[in-house]
Amino acid sequence: MKIKKYNIFVTGANRGLGLCLCERFLEKGCRVYALLRKQSNEITELKNKHQENLFIYTADVTDEKQLRETSEKIKAQTAGIDILINNAGIHLEHAQPDFSEIDFSVYIPTFTVNALAPLMVVKYLLTLVKNGQKKLIVNISSEAGSIGNAWREREYAYCMSKAALNMASRILDNRLKKEGIKVLAVHPGWFSSDMGGAEAPITPEQAAAKVAGTLLKDWHNKKSIYIDVEGKEMPW
Ligand SMILES: NC(=O)c1ccc[n+]([C@@H]2O[C@H](COP(=O)([O-])OP(=O)(O)OC[C@H]3O[C@@H](n4cnc5c(N)ncnc54)[C@H](OP(=O)(O)O)[C@@H]3O)[C@@H](O)[C@H]2O)c1
Repeated sequence: MKIKKYNIFVTGANRGLGLCLCERFLEKGCRVYALLRKQSNEITELKNKHQENLFIYTADVTDEKQLRETSEKIKAQTAGIDILINNAGIHLEHAQPDFSEIDFSVYIPTFTVNALAPLMVVKYLLTLVKNGQKKLIVNISSEAGSIGNAWREREYAYCMSKAALNMASRILDNRLKKEGIKVLAVHPGWFSSDMGGAEAPITPEQAAAKVAGTLLKDWHNKKSIYIDVEGKEMPW
């Protein structure tokens, strides 16, 4: 399917879903503005293949100064972003400790990256989204953030951070609706990556293909905010 040459911004672009989203949108002819903390061979290869359409910026999504500087660099390159994708995320409870073994030191970093950083990114790039054609902000959430569907007995930090991200998405959408901007919180499915592990039923490439297809639909006239990879509404 031929689509408009959208400008797409993606965080966490060096590996996992972020990298695959960059590749997917580039294959569709979009321009991609990729944010990462450190280069990877994969993103360098992608750059070599798509010299003209892939722009790479280095910043930590939790560092406001770096985000401000990055926003200035992107503004020098383009007037607008059509789809802003907050994808960078962390899951630090690797051993999934039971309640008595919880290490609370992972909580604040998890909240900072998964729930606060997406808001910071929006703060510095909002002008660009306002100038974009599609006016879509996407927070990559998780079914782990659904309170209605909660089934886990562990992984408090990750689940709580994604539930907080869902709330941020709801409030942002309430606020930005009047400016024609739609905000989505998207569960991308369980896919194999450093975070998802090898057991996952789908690859990050497959997840990215589904996410990209869903994001390219028109969401502005729909009430849904929290959706799965097929676009189906998730219970908060
Ligand atoms: N994998 C799954 O099954 C699954 C399921 C549901 C939702 N999700 C969500 O999907 C998104 C992508 O997950 P993934 O599996 O692709 O994860 P991943 O392979 O672990 O990659 C995480 C990405 O986030 C970046 N990142 C982390 N902290 C950052 C920071 N402070 N500043 C900038 N970048 C940072 C990482 O960069 P570095 O290389 O620099 O660390 C990396 O690019 C996450 O939001 C995750 O919660 C994943």
